[in-house]
Amino acid sequence: KIIILDFGSQYTQLIARRVRELNVYCEIHPFNHLPEFDQSVKGVIFSGSPFSVRQEDAPQIDLSLFHQQYPLLGVCYGAQYLAHTSGGEVIPSTIREYGRANLQYIDETHSLLKNIPHDSQVWMSHGDTISEIPEEFEVIASTDTVKVAAYHIKGTKTYGIQFHPEVTHSTDGKQLLENFLVDICGCSQDWTPDSFVESTISSLRGKLGNDKVVLGLSGGVDSSVAAVLLHRAIGPNLHCIFVDNGLLRKDEFAQVLDSYKHMGLNVRGINAKDRFLSQLAGIKDPEQKRKVIGRVFIEVFDDAAHEVQDVKWLGQGTIYPDVIESVSVKGPSATIKSHHNVGGLPDFMKLKVVEPLNTLFKDEVRKVGKTLGIDDVILGRHPFPGPGLAIRILGDITAEKVAILQEADAIYINNLKTSGWYDKVWQAGAIFLPVQSVGVMGDERTYENVICLRAVGSVDGMTADWSHLPYELLAKISNEIINNVKGINRVVYDISSKPPATIEWE
Ligand code: XMP
Repeated sequence: KIIILDFGSQYTQLIARRVRELNVYCEIHPFNHLPEFDQSVKGVIFSGSPFSVRQEDAPQIDLSLFHQQYPLLGVCYGAQYLAHTSGGEVIPSTIREYGRANLQYIDETHSLLKNIPHDSQVWMSHGDTISEIPEEFEVIASTDTVKVAAYHIKGTKTYGIQFHPEVTHSTDGKQLLENFLVDICGCSQDWTPDSFVESTISSLRGKLGNDKVVLGLSGGVDSSVAAVLLHRAIGPNLHCIFVDNGLLRKDEFAQVLDSYKHMGLNVRGINAKDRFLSQLAGIKDPEQKRKVIGRVFIEVFDDAAHEVQDVKWLGQGTIYPDVIESVSVKGPSATIKSHHNVGGLPDFMKLKVVEPLNTLFKDEVRKVGKTLGIDDVILGRHPFPGPGLAIRILGDITAEKVAILQEADAIYINNLKTSGWYDKVWQAGAIFLPVQSVGVMGDERTYENVICLRAVGSVDGMTADWSHLPYELLAKISNEIINNVKGINRVVYDISSKPPATIEWE
């Protein structure tokens, strides 16, 4: 594996993504929590950082643990840090070193630069620059303005580059990373979804033995893939629990439960609709709704988990970005786990936790799901919030409003599917507005509610833009909803981006 030491750059995750895309397994570790350096480590990459090496509180690291024992690639801050601590000089740059530049000089005798064409475009993003390098360093690539674009420490497998190979604007960045991983570190590029599945199943078997595991399924990608992996490893010792909170899409509970059973999962569906709805009665505040739903879910799940005898583990679909978040460079203080609270926790939260996907990025989870033969209906599903339709019914929630929204939403989603738009948008859903407006149907005046349609394009949900659905499609959906859903006489389309709006209305 490759160890990426994170000095806090916004690009660190991207380095990991690129390494994984080259079928090499890697892990990100914060610079101040070093992992063990053993036989399995084939090389080390230093990330960039928002700090300058000249700052007093700049990230420091004990190089003696691995320097010159493992191949090392310093990127940006990482390169400057190595130069600075080896007796070179790093100064504030007098010219702007941001954005694109081209490599004018390349020393091709170095395998790091193999197959990188002259003039190759690279992406710079630094306020400091290496002005002088120590005796034992040699410059192996330069741009017009940055002499030390890349260096090598003679007689070692240590390299530094001041540009960012991980961003797509560095056109040959992936080639450079491949050169480092394959030629310099000797990695074999055999980390694939298939190999992941094989090794994960065997390590789960070793870890869990004959123990029983409970896992809550949500219908989403992560929990489904985690469940199938665990099922492959321990079969019926995995007990899945799928709770119907009454806030899912129309018919979704029955359909998803059915596909889980088809996949052979040992799954129990629990109808808790009334319990959720009665606890939500009269609550209008969105955060209050979330709290109630979270609490009731824990109660229902805990009851169900107690019915499994001698359970030892709680399975979870946690993925890598959640893990990185909680061990980030900013320190664990912000995300201290509530161990001191253990006394007050429901019993299932005291179980040991097994998280088979906690090394994977979202797209890798999908690939693993495909390898496992999981249906596209589950793998290609739009994200859906845990509190479900509760945060798409503005104001208080009643069974009647849920039913109306389910009907309208089903018409909307079906039309997206049949028109081929479902896979083109990142997330879509209908929203029930607590607004009544006047309409006319036949000779009758109506005074009914409004449904808003929302569809967005996004990569990670952090930012989003409204999808430009064709007018004809919107017209068809609007017609169908107004003609078929009693209680709705008006349909509107949300054309707000995030920011400043959010994807959900609550
Ligand atoms: P917003 O509305 O914040 O949503 O732009 C971003 C993404 O997060 C989902 N979302 C939630 N998911 N529990 C969840 O599990 C929640 O309380 C919640 N609120 C928003 C939302 O559907 C979108 O994908």
